[in-house]
Amino acid sequence: MSHSPIHRAGHSPIEVELEEGKTYTWCACGRSNSQPFCDGSHQGTGIDPVVFVAERSGTVWLCMCKQTATPPLCDGSHNKKNNL
Ligand code: FES
Repeated sequence: MSHSPIHRAGHSPIEVELEEGKTYTWCACGRSNSQPFCDGSHQGTGIDPVVFVAERSGTVWLCMCKQTATPPLCDGSHNKKNNL
């Protein structure tokens, strides 16, 4: 049984439209009510969000299972058997 402070926020990535040069804050803990972005709910978990600037405008797939090795982007980790 996992006691990880990281919660799975979804079972598949979410498609998001980003704007070039804009700063985004991706939720790494899975507790935000504004997925896939941080709403401050990580306080007290020891987990920090991932702040990033969009390199170009367009659609990306952001991780919702919070197990990706390439945050904030999905790397297919949601398909792994031992995932949360
Ligand atoms: S609410 Fe999850 S990292 Fe901020």
